[in-house]
Amino acid sequence: MDIIIVLDFGGQYTHLITRRIRDLGVYSEILPFDVDLEYLKKKEPKAIILSGGPGSVYEQKAPRLKKGFLQYTTENKIPVLGICYGHHLIMQMSGGKVESKEKKEYGKTDLTIIDPNLLFDSLEKEQIVWMSHGDQITEIAKGFKPLANTETCQVAAFGNQQNLLYGVQFHPEVTNTPNGNKVLENFIYKICECKKEWKLEGWIDKQVEEIRKEIGTDNRVVLGLSGGVDSSVTAALLHKAIGDRLHCIFVNNGLLRKNEENEVQEMFKENLKYSNFHYVNAEDLFLKRLLNIEDPEEKRRIIGHTFIEVFENKTIELEKEHPDIKYLAQGTIYSDRVETSATSKVSAKIKSHHNLTLPDDMKLKIIEPLKNLYKDEVRKIGLELGLPDDIVKRHPFPGPGLAVRILGPIDKEKLTILRDADEILINEIKKAKIYDRLWMVFCVFLPLKTVGIMGDFRTYEYICSIRIVESTDVMTANFAKLDWDLLERISSRIINEVKGLNRVVYDITNKPPGTIEYE
Ligand code: XMP
Repeated sequence: MDIIIVLDFGGQYTHLITRRIRDLGVYSEILPFDVDLEYLKKKEPKAIILSGGPGSVYEQKAPRLKKGFLQYTTENKIPVLGICYGHHLIMQMSGGKVESKEKKEYGKTDLTIIDPNLLFDSLEKEQIVWMSHGDQITEIAKGFKPLANTETCQVAAFGNQQNLLYGVQFHPEVTNTPNGNKVLENFIYKICECKKEWKLEGWIDKQVEEIRKEIGTDNRVVLGLSGGVDSSVTAALLHKAIGDRLHCIFVNNGLLRKNEENEVQEMFKENLKYSNFHYVNAEDLFLKRLLNIEDPEEKRRIIGHTFIEVFENKTIELEKEHPDIKYLAQGTIYSDRVETSATSKVSAKIKSHHNLTLPDDMKLKIIEPLKNLYKDEVRKIGLELGLPDDIVKRHPFPGPGLAVRILGPIDKEKLTILRDADEILINEIKKAKIYDRLWMVFCVFLPLKTVGIMGDFRTYEYICSIRIVESTDVMTANFAKLDWDLLERISSRIINEVKGLNRVVYDITNKPPGTIEYE
């Protein structure tokens, strides 16, 4: 199968480039910009894309391509497309000049196409594109031709047909460049002549076959099933491959949403008939260990370690009956695994307390069947495997659950209040039929009391904050600008129906500068 490698120079849109290429039908993966050339060659890329990035090519410490990179691509006739920083880099390494311009271009910009072939085949002469740069090419190298310009940028795109080097100053991968997909399509099909082979149909059968081959006919697999999209789809895939030799362990950590433990059990045990679904109620243990703990990181640490302990104990118990448990499945997906330079700090932090693996002495082999898929691809696979919308379209829910949505120490009373408020919120959002277009919807318990009035009585109760965000990539998110009447209905219902709350506030913080969760 043809593969296009995206080299990551730290741009915030790197994952977006890979996703677009896959959507267009060619398999694509990200590698760091300084990947070993020998490793890159082994991948046998059909083409290479150089991402954008925050640096300037003329700076001393700017990330560069490995020595011999352009020689390798030219000799092997591998087309290269540079985007923004990548566009500058190709030009500079080929003898052109890149300089910082006083006039920066940011946002939607008018682009004029000079050469309507190659990258811009079948596009109108005038285009709108998304720019975000301070540097630009001021001198074009020998052998290169400008393909497009803007009012302030003479070389907004270039081509060198001889050496198959191309560059665009703008970002074709973002939706703010309306015909960006066409530019990428021209590159991958017209210039690189890739075959359209990346389809999700057929993926399941192939994967099932591979899982069966790997696991064999006797061995068993354990999986931590949380009921979230990734672990549920992993379960469904493994169940299809090896049936009841899959053992799902669902741990109730006492920090779940209202009724979640029943819903997940009902779904997998009753509806989907997984006979090896093991429910472990560890609520008391978690809550005991979290008693009086205030610091968010400490809460996460306790939850992470307790989870491993509970999971390990259950696995050991199962192993007594089934010594052929040899594998641990995980619902890792592509974006968990490949941290782009732009996101690695954040992902590393999330991972430190979430994706803890079992101790080495358990000697289980890891299997991660979704490791090359993006979330939207995982969702499509989930639907094809027959999982219901309720699971497949679920919003993300953090591993430490409601513990990071109750500020400060946690106790059962606060958990009940938060669960009740949260249930009303989700219910109203679903009734308004907007759940699917929102990224996350939840309540946060603020341990602050304020005065209110209820009937003839003065009240003194806690505050509930509502967090509803829209996002496509989790790295950035905006608060949702919802209808006032809907917000009013939610607020009235929460105050009237939930004992312990007398004030509801709506969070209007975007990310950045805020985060989605509160702790
Ligand atoms: P933030 O709050 O960083 O959240 O904007 C981004 C995404 O990450 C989730 N998140 C976590 N997930 N363990 C997790 O498993 C955590 O400790 C954690 N903290 C945040 C958050 O729910 C959102 O989807």
